[in-house]
Parts: sequence; C-alpha cells; structure tokens
Amino acid sequence: MQKMETLSSLRIFKTILIILSLVLLFNIPTQAQGLLYKLRPIQHDLAASKIGEPATTKPYDYILKFLSSSSFPSRASFPSDFLFGTGSSALQIEGAGHEGGRGLGIWDDIVNQHKDVYGDVDKFPKKIEHYKRYKEDVQLLKRLGVNSYRMSISWSRVMPNGTLEGGINKEGINFYNNLINELLENGIEPFVTILHFDYPLALKQKFGGFLNHSIVKHYKDYSELLFKTYGDRVKYWTTINEVEVTSIFQYMLNIDNISTDEECKTTRKCTLSYTLLHNFLLAHASTSKLYRTKFQAIQGGEIGLVLSSGCYVPYSSKLEDVAATQRLMDFYWGWILDPVFHGNYPKIMRKLVGNRLPKFTKKEKKMLKGSTNFIGINYYTSHFAIYEPNRTKSIGDSYDALARSEVFNEEGKPLGYKDQYAWNYVYPEGLYNMLLYIKDKYKNPKVYITENGVASTKIPNPLKDEHRIAYIAAHINATKAAIDDGANVRGYFAWAAFDTFEFQAGYSGNWGLYHVDFNDNLKRIPTDAAKWYRKYLTHDLRD
Ligand SMILES: *[C@@H]1O[C@H](CO)[C@@H](O)[C@H](O)[C@H]1NC(C)=O
Ligand SMILES: *[C@@H]1O[C@H](CO)[C@@H](O)[C@H](O)[C@H]1NC(C)=O
Ligand SMILES: *[C@@H]1O[C@H](CO)[C@@H](O)[C@H](O)[C@H]1NC(C)=O
Ligand SMILES: *[C@@H]1O[C@H](CO)[C@@H](O)[C@H](O)[C@H]1NC(C)=O
Ligand SMILES: *[C@@H]1O[C@H](CO)[C@@H](O)[C@H](O)[C@H]1NC(C)=O
Repeated sequence: MQKMETLSSLRIFKTILIILSLVLLFNIPTQAQGLLYKLRPIQHDLAASKIGEPATTKPYDYILKFLSSSSFPSRASFPSDFLFGTGSSALQIEGAGHEGGRGLGIWDDIVNQHKDVYGDVDKFPKKIEHYKRYKEDVQLLKRLGVNSYRMSISWSRVMPNGTLEGGINKEGINFYNNLINELLENGIEPFVTILHFDYPLALKQKFGGFLNHSIVKHYKDYSELLFKTYGDRVKYWTTINEVEVTSIFQYMLNIDNISTDEECKTTRKCTLSYTLLHNFLLAHASTSKLYRTKFQAIQGGEIGLVLSSGCYVPYSSKLEDVAATQRLMDFYWGWILDPVFHGNYPKIMRKLVGNRLPKFTKKEKKMLKGSTNFIGINYYTSHFAIYEPNRTKSIGDSYDALARSEVFNEEGKPLGYKDQYAWNYVYPEGLYNMLLYIKDKYKNPKVYITENGVASTKIPNPLKDEHRIAYIAAHINATKAAIDDGANVRGYFAWAAFDTFEFQAGYSGNWGLYHVDFNDNLKRIPTDAAKWYRKYLTHDLRD
C-alpha cells in the first residue's frame, strides 16, 4: 500500500528557512563528514521527462524499447531460487469482515468514522471477496507464473478480540489453512505478513493498542499460534508491515482524526509516533526471538520485517541539504534498521528527538540486535531532501528531522519521469541506490522487495496499463543491477495482485495486475501488465 503520495497534496505548508541555531551550525558540517550516503546514478535517458511537457510522447518509451533488447535481464539471469511474486493484504482484499467469526479490526472503525474521507466506502465491507473466492484467486496467481505470493493474515479473523482468552476462531484458522494449502498445491510459496496495518479493535479500545507495551504479549501469542498452526508449511514470515508509515500517519498526521494542522512539538501526537514504533519494534523482536528459539530449527523458515521507503537525494549541493538527506534516511530507514541491526535508534535521532524518543533497556537492545533474517522493502518512488530548520508542522516526514522531502530540486527538476497515468515520478535508480545503501550500511542483509508497483489512476482503460509494464520492468532491471553490484536481493513482489482497497483512495488507483470489475460480479481480468509479467516469468521475451 502506498500512502506517501497522498501527502504531496498536503504539502501546502512551506515553512520559511530561517536563521540556523548555533547548535545546528555546529552540527551540520560534522554530520556531513561522516556521510554514508553516496548517490550512484544509473545512466539513463531522461530527455523525455522535462517538466511540464505534455504527454504526447510516452516518457517510458525508452524502457519499452529496452525491454525487447538483449540487455534486459531475463528471468533466467536471476538465481533460480529467486522469488518472483505479487502481493496483497488481508484487510485490502478479503472482505467478509463480519463473516466467519471475524472480530472487528481497527480499520473497520477508522473507515466507518471517516466515511467522507475514504473513497469507495460502500465497497469496504465486501472488498473483492477474496475470502470467498480464494480458490479462483490462487488459479489466477498460478497463471501469472509467480513462485511466491505475499499475503497477510488477519489477526481479527483468527483471534477475534486479539487475545487467547478471547478465544481462537476455528473458521478463521481453517481459511488460512485452506489458502496456504491451495497455494502450495499450485507451486506457490506463501510469504506471510503477520500484521499488515489491521489488528483487533478490542485491543485498541481496551488499552490503546500499539501505544501500550502490553500489546507485545498479545502480538506474541498471536504469532505463536500462527507458527504452531502454519509454520510447517510457511517458510517466509514478516512480522509487521511498514511500521514507520503507520507511526507517522497515525499520529504525526493524525489519520484517525484527519488533521495536519497541529504543531508537533506541542502536542502528544508526534511523541506518540515514537511510542507506537517503539512498541512495534519490541513486538517484532520478541516474536522474532520466539520464532528463532522455538520454531526455526524444526520448521526451517526465516523471519523479517518490512519497511516502506524511498531513496533521498539532496535538493541542492549545499552541505546542509546533503546532511538533511542523510538525516531523512536515518529518521526513516534508520529508525527501524539501526535497532534491528545494531540494537538502538540512530544517534542523530536520539539527539534531535531527545527524551520524547523512548529508550530501550539493555535486555531489549540485545533482543533487537540481529532480530531479523531479512529486510522487506516496499519501494515506489524517491524524493529530494531539503534542510528545514524550523518545521512547525508534520507533513509526512518525521517532524524532528529538520528536513523535508521535495518532489523538485533546486533547479526545478524531478527525479525520473512523471507517469502520466499515476501520481508519481518513476525513479528506479532510487531502488538501486537504496539496495546499495542497505548493503553498505548494514552488512549486506538479505533483502526482498516486498512491494513495488504503480497505480493506474488516470488511465482511460485500466486493462491497457502499458505504463505499468515499463514501471515493473525498469525496477526489475534496477534490482538486477543491484544484485550484479553485490546486493543480497532474494525476491521481488509486484504490488498488487488484485485491485486493493487503498484507504483514502479506495479502488481509484487500479493497482491490480488483475483488474476487478465492480459492475460485473467482481470479475477478475488480467491487465496487459499481468500478461507481460506472465510472459516474462514463463517465456523468454525475445522469443
Ligand atoms: C477478550 O475476551 C476475553 C473473554 O471474554 C476477556 O476476558 C478479555 O478481556 C477480552 N480482551 C479484550 C482486549 O477485549
Ligand atoms: C496499558 O495496558 C494495561 C493493561 O494491559 C493497563 O493497565 C494500562 O493502564 C495501559 N496503559 C496505558 C498508558 O494505557
Ligand atoms: C481531533 O483533533 C482535534 C484537534 O486537532 C481534537 O480537538 C479532537 O478532540 C480530536 N477528536 C478526536 C475524536 O480524537
Ligand atoms: C519558526 O516559525 C514560526 C512561524 O512559522 C515563528 O513564529 C518562529 O519564530 C520561527 N522560529 C525560528 C527559530 O525561527
Ligand atoms: C538497466 O540497468 C542498467 C544497469 O545495469 C542501466 O545501465 C540501464 O540504464 C537500465 N535500463 C533502464 C531502461 O532502466
């Protein structure tokens, strides 16, 4: 799920750059000296991406041409055990929210309370009825030729009030048993997210959900149930999806209460972002420890966590923007990666956030360090980073980073080309750079690209999504380039398998490789990108 860009429209607040404090003047050069960030551009022809140019030429033509050339990396040029898949999440496709014994989830509540803000609210309860049509959907996945499918389990469906005392829902347990078996029988490895945004509302109502450390115990109970029940067959687990997006959106942006107007430092909200992420990390680490000590040796799987990220590129060559770039990386990726690889938050975060940043105990640090077998990254686009000393409002980046992301740089140029059918700028180099950055900074961990894709928001015919072919192909190419340069990438999952409910945008983004026709009994129809992906995975494109 990609929510970051909803923000661009919110980027109406342009805080004026003012006098630097003495402290900052002192800090910036020293931070910049230790800068790890190196931009490694992939050369490509950006001639077609001049700003303001009408969409008469397709900015991605050069990719389509490249696709049929012998330099495009074939499926066979990737390792044979490389996972090529696609994904979805329980909340976004299952439907049957009130059926099969499922309890209410937090998103049932959020969407109900803000019907005016969320698109396609009428379609929210049924979604695309994957719960009922999973067998058909597995056949569609099989047709794509993927060897893996990223899915998530709904906590509310297997443990309706979130706790063991509240009981286990047999019907929910059976549903995922059937889905997992169906996938395996069709040669598709399930790649399972334990928590993808939604969790039982009862936990939030009773004690504040992930704002309360008590949830760690319940999350661990829930995960243990999954390992015990499905771990004989599931070999890829991820604990939590996009914890930083959830934390920033839920509190800095106050998504529950759709308002971005409050000053961060003076309210509880922005501090709550740090609390929320802290508990997410502790839930991740204790569950990972449980898996690794109790299940891994017998079951032979691996466990990781998933972050959402774009790369950052300096807004200008000014030292302060270069330092701001590193800070945004530390505040966004480092916020998670430093704890799970090194056992603590980045130094710069501890310094700038001060006592609003929760602290890990010695024991927790030990538990966190090395708590992941791999990293999942969800990549969509990248941004410039600009120094901003006086942020009074949060607009999608961490308020405390003294930096802000920007779509255009000092010269008014974007990163990559504008996709005229979507909302974003397409910048596969950002994926490459990020993979290389993670390789260098965190000792080359295993990485899966757990989401990558583009919307078809402004497309006349959602089935004619040639722009998505170009998008996916260019990112597969960037992935291969990163592997060739030593990054330990083990899989790629196109987002999304089917049209998914994308919160504020509802279904308007047409994210699916399979388009779902809401006027024709939720019929699933392969788009051109689905046909291309199938051909890529199952034939040689140059045949
Ligand atoms: C869940 O249900 C059990 C049994 O009714 C109850 O004891 C517990 O307090 C409930 N927990 C929550 C979080 O609602
Ligand atoms: C956290 O949850 C516990 C119950 O598990 C409760 O006693 C406590 O008051 C909660 N704390 C907050 C800050 O809500
Ligand atoms: C929503 O936010 C406003 C301030 O931004 C606050 O006064 C109000 O109580 C909040 N409402 C809810 C339901 O949280
Ligand atoms: C930051 O901006 C606010 C208004 O946007 C202003 O009142 C304040 O004085 C500024 N702070 C500094 C340090 O410049
Ligand atoms: C594909 O990747 C190579 C680097 O291996 C790069 O030189 C080339 O420009 C990329 N092509 C496209 C269309 O992105």
